Amino acid sequence: MKVTNIRKTFGGVTALDGVNMEIDKGKMTMLIGPNGSGKTTLINVVSGFYKPDEGQVLFEGRDITGKAPNEVSRQGLIRTFQVPAPFIKLSVMENLLLASEGNPGESFLRAPLRSRWIKKESEIYNRAGRVLELLNLRLPDQLAGELSGGQLKLLEVGRALMTNARMVALDEPASGLNPTLAHKIFEHLDEIKRDFALTLLIIEHRLDIALQYVDYVYAMANGSVISHGKGEEVMNDPKVIEGYLGGTCT
Ligand SMILES: Nc1ncnc2c1ncn2[C@@H]1O[C@H](COP(=O)(O)OP(=O)(O)O)[C@@H](O)[C@H]1O
Ligand SMILES: [Mg+2]
Repeated sequence: MKVTNIRKTFGGVTALDGVNMEIDKGKMTMLIGPNGSGKTTLINVVSGFYKPDEGQVLFEGRDITGKAPNEVSRQGLIRTFQVPAPFIKLSVMENLLLASEGNPGESFLRAPLRSRWIKKESEIYNRAGRVLELLNLRLPDQLAGELSGGQLKLLEVGRALMTNARMVALDEPASGLNPTLAHKIFEHLDEIKRDFALTLLIIEHRLDIALQYVDYVYAMANGSVISHGKGEEVMNDPKVIEGYLGGTCT
């Protein structure tokens, strides 16, 4: 994905002030920066939730600037909260099946041939099984409402993986989790990235936890990119250190 000169203002507030980024395919890119630096706004712009005032977003070479979220997700880029919240009274497996595009019920209506429907259905089951294994969520029959907070986050990621997305943006997927669980989430994301050849853009504030898993880091402050590079480089950049000491980390 390539983001060029994105500007976004809200009334008098400049949330994004000419942001440029290149997010490599099949890599995990982390977005860091103090509270209010524009991280969430950037994810909202690239996923189609906000229209930028200026600039361009290219995804897989196509211009998706200002396209609606459902159009952007159809092109293969989603943010996790786009997958509707889990149904707490349904099982983990049922939640995964319902999140898939062309879930069994839907494909039944569309497929003119029963055999085609059965083939599609078994593909969806296989994918769900693989997702459960990767996330180490081996509780297909457990009700979503009975999962722990960490397991629910994993289920949310799993449901995003049931769509045909090639890039997933996650806004603080491990927030509120203790370090052990946060590491688990990042380990699973790393495996998923490889297994599904997925591009990941992740906002995370606990740099110490995320750093070992990410391939590339962008640091933002006041609506601009102040540093980017490999994790260690960005973490040792005086501008980043200053930005973090001078502001509240989120
Ligand atoms: N919907 C909105 N309406 C008005 N101001 C907003 C809106 N979304 C974000 N902002 C402002 O844009 C700036 C960047 O916010 P945000 O992207 O949420 O930062 P971060 O995610 O890095 O904490 C902040 O000053 C915030 O108050
Ligand atoms: Mg935010």
